[in-house]
Amino acid sequence: MKPGNIKWQTNTITKTDRQLLNGHKSCVLWFTGLSGSGKSTLANEVEKQLYAANIRTYILDGDNVRHGLNNNLGFSPEDRKENVRRISEVCKLFVDAGLFVLSAFISPYKEDRDSARHLFNESEFIEVFVKCDLDICEARDVKGMYKKARAGEIKEFTGISAPYEAPVKPELVIETDKQTIEDSVQQIISYLKQNHYIA
Ligand code: ADX
Repeated sequence: MKPGNIKWQTNTITKTDRQLLNGHKSCVLWFTGLSGSGKSTLANEVEKQLYAANIRTYILDGDNVRHGLNNNLGFSPEDRKENVRRISEVCKLFVDAGLFVLSAFISPYKEDRDSARHLFNESEFIEVFVKCDLDICEARDVKGMYKKARAGEIKEFTGISAPYEAPVKPELVIETDKQTIEDSVQQIISYLKQNHYIA
């Protein structure tokens, strides 16, 4: 639905003002990957490092957001699209608020991730492909969901009975089945330093 009689309200204090106050830029680290690939773990570890460096952050995580804002959504392609759409709009608000947002959602459809990207300036959206073989995710089975999905108890499960479209040109690829968490975190922090997001 498009807003009809609603006009955009321009406020006096801008995103740039808030970034100046914070002493850093704002952006989204958009983690995407299979369930169990390590998105939440990585987002948490990166957030700890950013926090220690006085960066204002916020994590948006699939399992949490689906308890509140998106508790009326399931896992059909349409619902996943709406899930990602709402999250990307929340990310936009947080970036406008001057924060480093770390979003950790499977976000399996390329088109939906591209729509998210298009809400931002080029440098504000950092797509992080958390790459991990399905076999390894399934062996980890942190939440016991792959077992249930194989038994047909969970329908439309990503990687088993629903698709995952790998990113084509992500800013970062983290291979969690080949590298340690420490190396993965370091890779992300180095990227942020090299590209002048943080000092
Ligand atoms: S997304 O596809 O819409 O981006 P999201 O990241 O929000 O998914 O939620 C994924 C989490 O929901 C998984 O980590 C898992 O714990 C849980 N889940 C429950 N049912 C499914 C399903 N059918 N497919 C994938 N994840 C599921």
